[in-house]
Amino acid sequence: MPISDNSQKSHVGDLPAGRPLQTDFNAEFGNDLDYPRLGTVSFRRGTLTDNQEALWDEYWPKLGTVLSDEKIDVDAWFGRPGAKTIVEIGSGTGTSTAAMAPLEADTNVIAVELYKPGLAKLLGAVVRGDIRNIRMVRGDGVEVLTRMFDEASLDGVRIFFPDPWPKARHHKRRIIQSGVLNLIATRLKPGGVLHVATDHADYAEWIKELVDVEPQLEYMGWPWEECPQLTDRQVITKFEGKGLQKDHTITEFLWRRK
Ligand SMILES: C[S@@+](CC[C@H](N)C(=O)[O-])C[C@H]1O[C@@H](n2cnc3c(N)ncnc32)[C@H](O)[C@@H]1O
Repeated sequence: MPISDNSQKSHVGDLPAGRPLQTDFNAEFGNDLDYPRLGTVSFRRGTLTDNQEALWDEYWPKLGTVLSDEKIDVDAWFGRPGAKTIVEIGSGTGTSTAAMAPLEADTNVIAVELYKPGLAKLLGAVVRGDIRNIRMVRGDGVEVLTRMFDEASLDGVRIFFPDPWPKARHHKRRIIQSGVLNLIATRLKPGGVLHVATDHADYAEWIKELVDVEPQLEYMGWPWEECPQLTDRQVITKFEGKGLQKDHTITEFLWRRK
């Protein structure tokens, strides 16, 4: 059944901590790729306030879903066939996702995040602000793209301030890897845009090494004046703000699906 209205499901949203994921990623994209190597994803625990719990129970079944093998029927979920659709991986608390929504009201935004309290915060903003163009998926963004989206189905993918995993032995956990770039390329429509931003100098260097690694993605550099999606950087994200306070330089990367 395509995901369009899962309000009949009783208890969506609670994933056990540290649950090993059966990944399809390596099957589809080859087992020599760097991501995911660990075999497990640790879902961070977090507590919701009573208000957030109540809001979650009432609104998550319509506005959110969890990682599964059901393809998302985007047109039905948003109720407006044909609108552009962008996936944001790692939306955190969703502060900037919610703030950007009115600037891109014609675009469907699907925020993917592992961290339930972050999603609960975004859900609160969506409900209070009557924001119509955001939906949420709880799960690993790589798995969500692999299992829940068809090839050539997205107009954009955003990854803003991904976890930098600064220690050398943890670099393999960085989400920007050749295999993930290949996955993203397959999910983008021709002309679709991948946008990555980081405030971490070493991660920026890491990404620079990879800008041309995926043949289906044309690296557009920064700035790219005609980029169709630059509303997304009119709002500073929470982690960007933290980086700016430490005088970090923000580095942006844009690719276009050939
Ligand atoms: C450094 S925070 C940035 C949050 C937000 N984009 C911002 O700029 O404020 C990175 C976020 O990505 C999430 N994350 C990390 N790996 C992820 C994955 N594989 N799939 C989805 N979310 C992920 C983390 O839980 C965290 O909330």
